[in-house]
Amino acid sequence: MGSLQVTEIHPGFGVQVSGLEPRVPLADDVIALLRRLFDEKGLLVFRDIDADLRFQTYLSLLLIGEDPLANPAESLDTPAARRELLVSNREEGSSAPVGRLLYHSDYMWRDDVFRLLSLYGLKVEQPTSPTMFASAAHAWETLPADLRARVEGLYAIHGQDASYEARSGGDGDVLVSKFDELETIRLPIGHRHPRTGETVLYVTPQFTQRIDGLSDADSEALLGELFDHLYRPEAEVQHQWREGDLVLWDNIALQHARPNITYEGPARTLRKTFAPPPGANGSKRPQFTTVGA
Ligand SMILES: [Fe+2]
Repeated sequence: MGSLQVTEIHPGFGVQVSGLEPRVPLADDVIALLRRLFDEKGLLVFRDIDADLRFQTYLSLLLIGEDPLANPAESLDTPAARRELLVSNREEGSSAPVGRLLYHSDYMWRDDVFRLLSLYGLKVEQPTSPTMFASAAHAWETLPADLRARVEGLYAIHGQDASYEARSGGDGDVLVSKFDELETIRLPIGHRHPRTGETVLYVTPQFTQRIDGLSDADSEALLGELFDHLYRPEAEVQHQWREGDLVLWDNIALQHARPNITYEGPARTLRKTFAPPPGANGSKRPQFTTVGA
């Protein structure tokens, strides 16, 4: 383990880890270190790493405390399954191929929300669009006292893309995900992270519909103040993609977004994994359109 180097990405969250040999299984002391870093920092970045789907899935499950060898990735190892894991503006059948994504946590309206997401840079032409990250855990820690007092005890309702168009600010490139069945959940705005126990500021512009018990105007105004705090420029991390980048993050403690992507722009093909794997919680894939479509 002596060769592992850890570099801070942002004072509030995120580390880059260098020197990892992508083998299955990893040594116990390496696993312990990576799990600790993941719980404390929420975002791990590895660069120039030769990660196949098996390793990416293994590491994803391992970081959330699961036994990855009990859940091998073979079920994903079909051409159709592999295509569904791609986020790409080149590969047919991939997810969210174009458009801009507002900040969100994937499937945050479910109580069995994905706990970890990862992306691996398979084909990346420059200059490409980054993935942006903000920490809901750091945002709660740094929330001004008056704002914290106002949201203490309040609940928010999250669902699939309600209010999304109103928050796009007239930007027709913003991506909208549509689902066959509508689901919502009501959770405290100061939400307790199920694994780490830390409190996170659990609201996002893509999926938070409203604050329960407030008028529409008051709800949107208070959410606006929380978003201003969450996404203030100094609290944001932009990951600039290169091929061979492996980025894993806590989908509850962190939120992600991306600028617009087009079919005509540089090729950007990333391989995504979810932990636990999609389907384990009965989740279905959305269809994507843009606000302006
Ligand atoms: Fe997402």
